[in-house]
Amino acid sequence: MKGKSFLKLLDFSTQEIKSLIKSAKDLKSDKKNNREKQNLKGKNLALIFEKDSTRTRCAFEVGAMDQGANTTYLGAVGSQIGKKESIADTARVLGGMFDGIEYRGSSQEKVEELAKYSGVPVWNGLTDEFHPTQILADFMTIEEKKGKLSDQKLVYVGDGRSNMGNSLLIGAAKMGMKFTILSPLELFPEKKLITKAKEIAMETGAVINFEMLPEKALEDADVVYTDVWLSMGEKFDIWKERIELLKDYQVNKKLMGYANEDAIFMHCLPAFHNLETEIGKKIYQEFGLEELEVSDEVFESEQSVVFDQAANRLHTIKSVLVSTLV
Ligand code: CP
Ligand code: NVA
Repeated sequence: MKGKSFLKLLDFSTQEIKSLIKSAKDLKSDKKNNREKQNLKGKNLALIFEKDSTRTRCAFEVGAMDQGANTTYLGAVGSQIGKKESIADTARVLGGMFDGIEYRGSSQEKVEELAKYSGVPVWNGLTDEFHPTQILADFMTIEEKKGKLSDQKLVYVGDGRSNMGNSLLIGAAKMGMKFTILSPLELFPEKKLITKAKEIAMETGAVINFEMLPEKALEDADVVYTDVWLSMGEKFDIWKERIELLKDYQVNKKLMGYANEDAIFMHCLPAFHNLETEIGKKIYQEFGLEELEVSDEVFESEQSVVFDQAANRLHTIKSVLVSTLV
């Protein structure tokens, strides 16, 4: 995969995704056993974050440091990107100084354009359409907790046409999983992406379904996954409409009760499960809801693996860096 950009899972074969996860597991064990080798000494990486991040930024920075590379962080303010300089021009400038570029921002088009013009590997740290590095960590975690991916039934509950819904759909299709999106009809992924996923599923043996009824969707589920109801970049004024659409899809004890007894709960995080956040408090004041996409009870339960999943962001992002740079 040397020299290749990591923009979306559609660009990677099942075998390549498997190998990225395998290498992440090796890197995790090497780090734990103090035998990690630095493969990226002398490399310089640019990290562009037009949207906020905790996990992804830290995983790129710590992953790079562990491997001996240097990073330069370019945030939402403080650079010329987008305001005085186009993506194509920025790409050619950064491509002349850096060995690789991470980009988190709005449209998928921008990250694709960076890759087209920079001449170095570009990594998608999240766009409105896709969040591919997250899926590697999710699948690694499922393998660690439950064994083989292709044996598992994964149900994604919530906004099915968000970056997470889209990416899990393609990832699950590529890995031959049983995958269901549980959401209201209005929030199903775009038809074009569903068709693509179904084409991939024909080759891999994946079983892809879309359901609106929790008890039907969650029957025999091994993994229950959700994400925020409103993604970064969406306006606060649509919270009311989104709550109306998704209020019956909160992952709580009742919903988890429809899944297998030993099902695990996953969330890419951050999550609204209590009133300990500014936005959580604001939503409580306006709509009277203390918990949104997941109840605090499920989030804090034995079934929840969200912090192991978050920790695996480091190893999987490091695996992408090493695999595409060396
Ligand atoms: N899951 C995830 O991408 O988290 P951050 O927004 O904190 O990077
Ligand atoms: N769908 C969420 C994912 C955050 C990691 C968002 O885009 O805000």
